[in-house]
Amino acid sequence: MKRIVILISGRGSNMEAIHRACAEEGWPAAVVAVISNRPTAGGLAWAAERGIATASIDHRAHADRAAFDAALAAEIDAHQPDLVVLAGFMRILTPGFVARYAGRLLNIHPSLLPSFGGLHTHERALQTGCKVAGATVHFVTAELDHGPIVLQAVVPVLAGDTAETLSARVLVCEHQIYPRAVRWFVEDQLLLGDDGVVRHTLNAPQWLFH
Ligand code: GAR
Repeated sequence: MKRIVILISGRGSNMEAIHRACAEEGWPAAVVAVISNRPTAGGLAWAAERGIATASIDHRAHADRAAFDAALAAEIDAHQPDLVVLAGFMRILTPGFVARYAGRLLNIHPSLLPSFGGLHTHERALQTGCKVAGATVHFVTAELDHGPIVLQAVVPVLAGDTAETLSARVLVCEHQIYPRAVRWFVEDQLLLGDDGVVRHTLNAPQWLFH
């Protein structure tokens, strides 16, 4: 049974999608803890109501990124995870933290990486005149939003879209591709090679067109 720890900063809808799929599809895995850098994150209450261990490590209570990441890693390691899932976790992680979880740290970003990493993704895609947008699941490396790509979803940009309408369309796809990628990992169908290349034994598409 693989042990999954999920890190969130907010509402945690991707966390919910992963937890739900894990239970409903009978993965050989369990979400053993949900940890937030924000004590008020809505997803913490959702997880606690379902009997999942929760913790908040408030980044504002730590002197610098290294101190925060050390506290976060100590909490994560207490749950002995096989996989750490960033699900709307809005903190930049230090290279040391990323190296500690190399090959077992996944993230989802609401853009078609390598375009529009960082913040204000949807605003920037609209401003640029993109005709499609999407989301990307990737292994985390030290460079922000640049790790090896596992799975991508593509949605159209529609006339009159705002950042809100576009992000809602992308979020629907996030809830489909993130559970899929996590399932591949816990079923040992997906790994990150020592050479930094994604390897898989999948007979399934690694994209989704909405
Ligand atoms: C999601 O759209 C996720 O892709 C994004 O934050 C949102 C969290 O929503 N993550 C990032 O922007 C990371 N750079 P959720 O809390 O409902 O899962």
